[in-house]
Amino acid sequence: MSAPLLSLSGISRHFGALKAVDDVSIDVPTGARHALIGPNGAGKSTLFRLVTGSMPVSSGTVTLGGSDITRLPEFRRARRGISQTLQHSSLFLSQTVQQNVLLAAQRQYGTRHAIVPREQAAARERARALLADVGLEGRAGTPVSALSHGERRQLEVAVALACQPRLLLLDEPAAGMSPAESARLVELLKSLPESVTVVIVEHDLEVVFALATSVTVLHLGRVLLTGSPDEVRASAAVQEAYLGTGRGSLFLDMAEPAHLEVS
Ligand SMILES: Nc1ncnc2c1ncn2[C@@H]1O[C@H](COP(=O)(O)OP(=O)(O)OP(=O)(O)O)[C@@H](O)[C@H]1O
Ligand SMILES: [Mg+2]
Repeated sequence: MSAPLLSLSGISRHFGALKAVDDVSIDVPTGARHALIGPNGAGKSTLFRLVTGSMPVSSGTVTLGGSDITRLPEFRRARRGISQTLQHSSLFLSQTVQQNVLLAAQRQYGTRHAIVPREQAAARERARALLADVGLEGRAGTPVSALSHGERRQLEVAVALACQPRLLLLDEPAAGMSPAESARLVELLKSLPESVTVVIVEHDLEVVFALATSVTVLHLGRVLLTGSPDEVRASAAVQEAYLGTGRGSLFLDMAEPAHLEVS
């Protein structure tokens, strides 16, 4: 097993009396496709915020590639290779598909000097390739406001990848996608090089189990279990956490396992 790229050590985030994230420790190895699942309100999106730095931890340590980044502001963490898609869209709606990806692709050249033509050409080529990868090659000139919901999610993935991340955090990227679009997303994420480590929050367990090499189940802010996809599928505690919140269909939707019975 390779060294963890991302290491969360006893991180918590409290909102008053609510422990949204409660003493969570997770190691995500370099190259992993790690899924974070759990019922609504489990603390998944909050956990992402603690990793990106858009929200400070109440306690605990966040380590990226062996460096403690707990106190670094969000933009410094981004420079160290953390990129994300959000649960709620952050695209520039009046801009075109290509402009959105280009903005992200050009960010690596910094803002201290004007981008020279060679860099511009490279960024354009990268934007074109990324749009092809996510299945939006025919939509480059389309304003984002004219895209379907699923297409916007595809574009968000392209924007996040344009920053050439080491760590890609995806918060419900398949929400609102058609089955064909989700399948394409899974293929894309699987085809990313090992140098890109992926952590995905996703309610669609078909996507989770098609992609994940490891899974953490969060419940009420705490880690219920981290394990292989098979271990998580088989866990009685996990079944209970979902069934107990009326989201039992999450697991029952799956073709496997077929041994679950609804009472
Ligand atoms: N800024 C905030 N202030 C107060 N409470 C918050 C804040 N952000 C999140 N919470 C609360 O923290 C808990 C965890 O929320 P979070 O959004 O992390 O859950 P989630 O697992 O992403 O849920 P979902 O699957 O619905 O997206 C919830 O009870 C939520 O209401
Ligand atoms: Mg969320």
